[in-house]
Amino acid sequence: DLTDLTVHKVGGRIGARIDGVRLSGDLSAETIAEIRSALLKHKVVFFRGQDHLDDRAQIAFGERLGPLTTAHPTVNTGSARVLTLKANRGMAANSWHTDVTFVDRPPAFSILRGAEIPEYGGNTVWANTVTAYERLHPQLKALVDNLWAVHSNDYDYVRPDQAESTDDVAARRREEFVSTIYRTEHPAVRIHPETGERALVLGHFVKHFTGLNQKESAILFNLLQDRVTALENTVRWHWQQGDVAIWDNRATQHYAVADFDELPREVRRITVQGDVPVSIEG
Ligand code: SIN
Repeated sequence: DLTDLTVHKVGGRIGARIDGVRLSGDLSAETIAEIRSALLKHKVVFFRGQDHLDDRAQIAFGERLGPLTTAHPTVNTGSARVLTLKANRGMAANSWHTDVTFVDRPPAFSILRGAEIPEYGGNTVWANTVTAYERLHPQLKALVDNLWAVHSNDYDYVRPDQAESTDDVAARRREEFVSTIYRTEHPAVRIHPETGERALVLGHFVKHFTGLNQKESAILFNLLQDRVTALENTVRWHWQQGDVAIWDNRATQHYAVADFDELPREVRRITVQGDVPVSIEG
């Protein structure tokens, strides 16, 4: 199966489409290694036409990248491994984040399958947190290199689409999301355990920077987030049913654009275990 696999960049700084592979738990070790290396290089990779996958096959493939985490620390969607994100259940991820950074060991990879894709809208956008760091002025790097941030699922970020967060469904979802409060500290800059690259660790679960007050934290957070989410630093994916996206959660943030009105949208996610983020100082 190795010979057919081709990798095509879809953005200058992040994102590639991989053609010629049918995802399954039975792929050869060489093909898995090719996928992993494209993933580490391009940070998010996309596969079209994987309609044959169901939850079980998605899990079997995912396990080839590493042991899986539980579906989610607090959200129960009826499966041990698969988190089903349904827009009409208040499961909208429309703010910039890295998955589950409120635990000590956030996932290494997320594998998302497009189960029901609206006719329009509902794209997902990913940003490269390595290039965002690399392009900072040395003075700013010096400022963030030894900084730490507190992350919690008891988030207080404001969704750009306010109306959504005020309805009952979203309120119930929020209740479940914070049914157990997690709180942890991560370095603002981590050394990627596989590539050795330096990446910013931010996103919407950040409460504040250690030692800085709310106002100082907000100013610095926004300054850095603006660099992460600059359009040139992102790639936007137009989902088709049966698409699969895999991202390196240690080198990206993402945002699911909630612009599909009342249309149904369902995506199903599994996550591969990661490790404790290591700062530049070790
Ligand atoms: C997620 O944040 O993991 C889901 C992204 C999406 O719904 O496209």
